[in-house]
Formats: sequence, structure tokens, C-alpha cells
Amino acid sequence: MSYPDITTAISLWQESISGNCSWNKEKSREYIYHTNGVGDAAFKIAEHCGMNSEKAYALGLLHDYGKIQNEKESGIAHFIYGYNEMLKKGWDEVAKICITHSFPNQHIDFARYPKYNQKDLQSAQDIISTVQYDDYDRLVQLCDMFFEGTKKMSITQRIAGIQLRYNLRKTQTDELEKYALANKKYFDEKCGCDIYKILDM
Ligand SMILES: [Fe+2]
Repeated sequence: MSYPDITTAISLWQESISGNCSWNKEKSREYIYHTNGVGDAAFKIAEHCGMNSEKAYALGLLHDYGKIQNEKESGIAHFIYGYNEMLKKGWDEVAKICITHSFPNQHIDFARYPKYNQKDLQSAQDIISTVQYDDYDRLVQLCDMFFEGTKKMSITQRIAGIQLRYNLRKTQTDELEKYALANKKYFDEKCGCDIYKILDM
């Protein structure tokens, strides 16, 4: 299993920023804020609970690498594109995060992705059904919750944003919130404090 050092992670991240030609300035700004925020938050929490903070940073920074391409135009979801690209580059731990960060409960709701290639979704489901989620998967899933647009926010605020953006049913967002809050509790206990304090929230 492997992941890039910080210098390599940052250069891959820069490649992902300049790679998506369909983004306007605002979209790029949001991507930069979000991924940088997830990387930083993962670093800080990892440092507090004795995990490898440089690894957490690299995985957090690159979890959305698949957004280098326009998923709506290509029909390839960012979690699948990122997974394949990172495997090609030999960073299999980043590949794993690219896919696991989107599915905290190890299950893909196919109806949520009608525009994506269904065969791709099935192979993504096959991957997440067989991999073992570890603390790095859980950490990036958690930190992914705190940054949307160019704002840092609580899990509850982020879930409300996701509900609006994807027009999800209440049962779907309730499930997302349940997993996210359980995940936060896991890291609160692991760190011995409320992680919102570590993140100045
Ligand atoms: Fe993300």
C-alpha cells in the first residue's frame, strides 16, 4: 500500500486544479478551499490521535482528485475517475480514499447517480464491498463534511447543503447524518476531546 509524500501530493493536487478546463474561477476557488480544508483538518485530527498526519494530509488533499475531469460531461463519476487515475500512478491508498470517501456506509444508492455509467457504479460497489475501511477512510469521510463552497461548517449545516444540492429524500440525509455523527463521536473519543475544538469550530 502506498501514498505520496507531501511534496508529491501537493504537485498532484496542483495538477488537479489546473486540469479541469470546464471550471470557472469560482469553481476552482471552491475546489481549492474544500480540498485544502480537508487535508488540513485530517492533518490536525491525525496529529491529535496518534495517526500518521502526513499520510492523512496527502489523502485528504487528494480525495477529490477525480474532479480533474468534468463528471457531468464524461459520465464518469469523480470517485471512479480518481480511483483509476491514482491506481495508474501507483498510489493505491489514495485510490482507495478516492472511492471510499463518497460511501461511508459501503453502499452505493444507484438511483442517486442516474447519469453515470451503471457498469462503473457496479465496479465501484464491488470495490467498496470488498475493501476494509480503516481510520484513514473514516477520517477523510469525516473531514469531507466540514467544507462546502468556501465555507467551513458543522456536520448538520453540511448535510442541509447536500440535501438542497442533490435534492435528496429526508431518509437519505438522515442516514448520511447518522453515519457522520457516529464518525465524529469515534474521533472525539480517539482524540479525547471535541474535534470541533481542534478545528476552531
Ligand atoms: Fe470532497
